[in-house]
Amino acid sequence: MLALLQAVPAVQDTLAVAHEAAASDPIRSAIAQATYLGASVLFILGLKSLTRPDSARKGMQQAAMGMLFAVIGTLLNQHIITYQWIIGGLVIGAIAGYPMAMKVPMTSMPQFIAFSHAFGAIAATLVGVVEYRELLHEGKLTSGLAGALGFEVLFGALTVTGSFMAFGKLQELITGRPITFKGQNFFNILLMAVAFGSFGYLIYQPEAVWAFYTVTGLALFLGISMVLPIGGGDMPVVVSLLNSYAGLAAAATGFAIGNNVLIIAGALEGAGGFILSVMMSKAMNRSFGNVIFGAFGAPPAAAAAKGEQKEPKSITAEDAAMQLAYAGSTVIIPGYGMAVAQAQHICRELHELIQKKGGEVKYAIHPVAGRMPGHLNVILAEAGIDYGALLTDVDDANRVLNSADIVVVVGANDIVNPDADNDKSSPLYGMPIFRPWNAKVTYVIKRGKGVGFSGVENPLFSLDTTRMIYGDAKGVLGTLVKEVKALDEGH
Ligand code: TAP
Repeated sequence: MLALLQAVPAVQDTLAVAHEAAASDPIRSAIAQATYLGASVLFILGLKSLTRPDSARKGMQQAAMGMLFAVIGTLLNQHIITYQWIIGGLVIGAIAGYPMAMKVPMTSMPQFIAFSHAFGAIAATLVGVVEYRELLHEGKLTSGLAGALGFEVLFGALTVTGSFMAFGKLQELITGRPITFKGQNFFNILLMAVAFGSFGYLIYQPEAVWAFYTVTGLALFLGISMVLPIGGGDMPVVVSLLNSYAGLAAAATGFAIGNNVLIIAGALEGAGGFILSVMMSKAMNRSFGNVIFGAFGAPPAAAAAKGEQKEPKSITAEDAAMQLAYAGSTVIIPGYGMAVAQAQHICRELHELIQKKGGEVKYAIHPVAGRMPGHLNVILAEAGIDYGALLTDVDDANRVLNSADIVVVVGANDIVNPDADNDKSSPLYGMPIFRPWNAKVTYVIKRGKGVGFSGVENPLFSLDTTRMIYGDAKGVLGTLVKEVKALDEGH
């Protein structure tokens, strides 16, 4: 969904030239309006399809088609004097964007989205500035128009610097740890109050140029200061929230220049980004306020004070294969490590081998497994794993786990941490988690003693029913496949 929403500001970019839609050629104008209508319908259908992993690919295609319609409608705009700048922009954008999109690994998608999003927001802000200057010059500024444009640059500029900061934290160009100082929240609230105060004045006095640029400048600053205290791991929530701001900015532009597709696409992006942020926060059992002001990701004091954990017991892949080959029901819990190792294809092979021997295999997919919404759904779908095998509701999955013979945790950590249930001092406390310890035995595949995203130890690894299989997820699953095959062939 993020990818679709990312695309929307591009419409705004192309609309920079579409000021005042006069219709000297009614047929051309009617075709443009029809393409906009088609684009809006396709955006809505795309979002609907994106709600299910098995129709997500179709959703992306519908959304891309919608964007093509929107661009065609814009190119038909009769106020375009020359196409050379537009073609130049298209060529440069395609040359830069295509290799980036093809080369970026799935695990780096959050920072890629933040990066591309910053450019969409730059376009939104520039459109706002140009529109304001033109309307001022033509003496056509009204309170309504100044309000729409002020709103656009406020949210657009905030999104530019906020997205670059999110990119920097996710790419580890700057520390992913929260950067805090005394009185920070007060400082941010003060900045916000001055920005909103200037915005209010702009509506009252549309020709107050200083107010317009104060809003723009403070918003640029706010983007940095608001993201500074947020930990790198919370960046996907921040990116999604900024996405929603950019949508609101786009909708405001739509009102300012009288363009319906921008209003519709912007409203969809605004609502979609906001709902997604709320859902992500909920799945991490964090309130919005906690994500934005909580400085999550700081070194966890509680974990340090916990003392030594019992040494985890390990098992070889060869021994585990013997059990897996004869298990009646197996549940696989994939996490971030599966995505890092790109172990989804070999996982499907193991799954098919167990099924061939009469066992049932299900996947428990946690809403915040991995590093972006739907991360594991996407990579499992990419490996051709049937949607029917996925348990995407945490409570349903826990019911299935209660009666499972074997649970295989592949590169997951926080989403299976019992402290989320038991330890009030844990930063994970209250997060809905999977409970593999209710099954007969749990195998955990990970490379070593590395902690998960939250940075805390996981007592699951030391339980009596848990066995660690150390190694890279792809390598270990490869050995399991080899061994189960060997058993099948009677070696
Ligand atoms: P994590 O808790 O991050 O644990 C991943 C584990 O994978 C690590 O402990 C690591 O241990 C292991 N690993 C890494 N590379 C591996 C490899 N090549 N092979 C095998 N294992 C490997 O992941 P999770 O359980 O999926 O939980 C996700 C976390 O991210 C949650 O805390 C969630 O709140 C947070 N988060 C998620 C999102 C979204 S939207 N999904 C957004 C923000 C934050 P070793 O180093 O020992 O191998």
